[in-house]
Amino acid sequence: MSVRIRFDGDEIAGRDGQTIAGVLLGAGRRSWRSAAGAERGVFCGIGVCQDCVVTVNGIENVRACQRTAHEGDIVEREAR
Ligand code: FES
Repeated sequence: MSVRIRFDGDEIAGRDGQTIAGVLLGAGRRSWRSAAGAERGVFCGIGVCQDCVVTVNGIENVRACQRTAHEGDIVEREAR
């Protein structure tokens, strides 16, 4: 099964059960947030550092490395 999410206006396909970070990385995205002028993506990958946070379906501060991607999720960048 596949799952499709939207990020930066693009539809991105991943595999069912992948995290949002997994879907983004699988699509070649390496960063999806900026902080203090630097691009951020996955750092720890285990839910500790919060470098990977995104807004998902309007909910802020979702850790992309912990949240399973669901069909139709709308993922937005956060900058702070
Ligand atoms: S990469 Fe560290 S919390 Fe997600």
